[in-house]
Amino acid sequence: MSEWRQKLHIEPPQGWLNDPNGLCFYSGKYHVYFQYAPDSASGGGRKCWGHMESPDLLSWEYTGIVMEPDIPEDSNGVYSGCAVVDEGKLHIFYTGNVKKPGDYDYINEGREANQIHVVTDDPRVLNGKNIILRNPDYPDYCSCHVRDPKVWIEDGVWKMVLGARTRDSKGLVLYYEGDGPENFKFVKTYEVPDFGYMWECPDLFFVEGRSFLGLSPQGLPHEEFINQNVYSSGYFKLNEDKLSDFEEFDHGFDFYAPQTFETPDGRRLLIGWMGIGDIPYSNPTTELGWQHCLTLPRVLSVADDGGICQNPIDELVNLRSSRIRCAAGQKTELTLPCDIVIRDQDFTRASFGGFEITVGDGAAVLKFVEGKGWGYGRDIRRVRIGQFNDMRIILDTSSVEIYINGGRFVLSSRFYPDADVTFECDAKATVYMLGDKPMKLVAIGEALIDFIPDKTGCSFDQVTAFAPKLGGAPANVCGAFSRLTGKSAILTKLGKDPFGDKILKELGEAGIDTSDVIQTDEANTALAFVSLEENGNRTFSFYRNPSADMLLKDSEIRDDMFEDIFALHFCSVSLGDFPMKDAHRRAIEKARAKGALISFDPNLRFPLWKTEEDLRAAVKEFIPKADILKLSDEEIEFITGKTDIKDAADELFEQGVKLIVYTRGKDGAMLMTRNASGQAEGVAAKAVDTTGAGDAYIGSLLWYLKSIGVTVKDLPELTEDELTQGAAFANRYCAVTITKPGAIPSYPSLQEFKNIYK
Ligand code: FRU
Repeated sequence: MSEWRQKLHIEPPQGWLNDPNGLCFYSGKYHVYFQYAPDSASGGGRKCWGHMESPDLLSWEYTGIVMEPDIPEDSNGVYSGCAVVDEGKLHIFYTGNVKKPGDYDYINEGREANQIHVVTDDPRVLNGKNIILRNPDYPDYCSCHVRDPKVWIEDGVWKMVLGARTRDSKGLVLYYEGDGPENFKFVKTYEVPDFGYMWECPDLFFVEGRSFLGLSPQGLPHEEFINQNVYSSGYFKLNEDKLSDFEEFDHGFDFYAPQTFETPDGRRLLIGWMGIGDIPYSNPTTELGWQHCLTLPRVLSVADDGGICQNPIDELVNLRSSRIRCAAGQKTELTLPCDIVIRDQDFTRASFGGFEITVGDGAAVLKFVEGKGWGYGRDIRRVRIGQFNDMRIILDTSSVEIYINGGRFVLSSRFYPDADVTFECDAKATVYMLGDKPMKLVAIGEALIDFIPDKTGCSFDQVTAFAPKLGGAPANVCGAFSRLTGKSAILTKLGKDPFGDKILKELGEAGIDTSDVIQTDEANTALAFVSLEENGNRTFSFYRNPSADMLLKDSEIRDDMFEDIFALHFCSVSLGDFPMKDAHRRAIEKARAKGALISFDPNLRFPLWKTEEDLRAAVKEFIPKADILKLSDEEIEFITGKTDIKDAADELFEQGVKLIVYTRGKDGAMLMTRNASGQAEGVAAKAVDTTGAGDAYIGSLLWYLKSIGVTVKDLPELTEDELTQGAAFANRYCAVTITKPGAIPSYPSLQEFKNIYK
């Protein structure tokens, strides 16, 4: 049943996968290596490293086998290890496994464990294996089992932990230090009494300034609520050298050998193997030629009690393509993958057909329904959670990951349905359908150079120098959306001139897709010179007579520009009597046909129009085409003839607008639909530069709507709570942007934003 092929999770193309290895971000991409037995779905034969890479942690490309046993020191397996980036080089460390032929116990004799180092600047090519430690180098109480190096650099010192088994079968961690990647010296051990016979895959890592030692111990006694699996995997809190309170990372059936790494934006992510060796249950894909997958990347944080919370990475919400709000008791047929959120405190039970999740008496339970056969031998797993607060469930085609109480407790499992997966729950829940690609924001209109004055508080003629900065409201809106982890693309025309090149380059650097931007020699790139007087009055001088952006033609707007589209955004600057206006009409038509939200921010620029009436007429023509309309307190009267937003709103709803975004500068903002509204007070912030603030507002609001899976039909149904949250989210985002100069350069990433509002 190829339906068991996962859509979101890393899987081997064929054969067997186990531990994640070498997790890192290097030369602009995320890399995940993995333990790979390509020749056998049951894990036999060559044990290699496979390689996957991704620009966004969502879509993964398999690039092939990058290391296989080809030296005497790794003849029986290129075992687990890690990656470290230092001075532009990628350093790989792994264990070369050797099983000598003969009659050995393979614990204290007959096995070699070699720690091996490889340096590269191409993550797809790992050549030049250099042995840095061999069995005689380990402390003499060690058995032959010493493996799984995890290396990091702290204050210039290279540090390494290795998992080990002593000659009398106690698990422990060996800790090394060195002044480079190839001269590690043994320093000390980490150990606790009576805690299994072998510790695999150690990982010493830091979250929010606290230290943890992760490991996968073997040989722990199995209890009703803890260590239910054949082998365990969890972490100790690390205080100086003391290990305290071992806790499992995951309480489901399928989780082992996780590894963590740090992203460029400072997040600590964890990926585990969604599988375990020597399990008493099975995976039917083995008969089809492949077995196992990795978990989704999870972001780690520290809970109030000092334990670790794991949550799916924020990027995942970009895949939410639609949603169903389920009432208690309602049965829903699921299309997988999907993402379910339950916040209703009445929750006690959710059933999926072949398995169910229940909470009660301070515990959560994952149970396969007897007789249905979805578990292939899996039966029941339990975890103590205290009081229930919330639950998020990510279902892929054949896996479930359950995050409880803000991710403080997690259960992961494979399941193999032979019938539709349904969802029935005794509490309210929201089901988000997940697409296989992030849905994107497309903006059409001008991208130009804003010339920013060297001094403000003076009239235009007193400015002595102007600095060129990327500008244009549609470009900025894309910028905000992309900074928040979303995908965006801009449709515009630029001159074949150095300013056009500069814009293209900077849009790309801001993560905006420019593949449909056209460069022309019919006209130059648009320029706008700005001054700012003491009283706040801005003077604009535009060089657009015409400029390239005005010349984008409707015939240049193609269907394929709107694949995987979430929303189309536009403004009024490009609605004058030139070809770009028709391009807008065509783009709106095509985007709407793809089910996109249409978002319009008039963003009035009077100097661009012959008469005010022309501008008003253009705005009025396009309002009925919009689902979302942004108005500022300065624009409402000009556009609607009304001074009160409530009066104006009724008329706008009549014309088909579904969501009004009413911004009042430092006084906050209001979101209104026909049925509900939500307000957010202004956020106090010291304004350094408000350029692009309104664009940050609508860009971040669109991303918020995306993150909660909203489509056109959901707009009128947005709740007061959602409108309030949306208004507050965009308000805060906008407030951060005005504290720094420039538009896109002042937009924080989602992680920076979260850190500010922690
Ligand atoms: C954990 C593990 C590691 C070893 C690797 C071999 O699952 O046993 O200790 O390096 O798998 O594939």
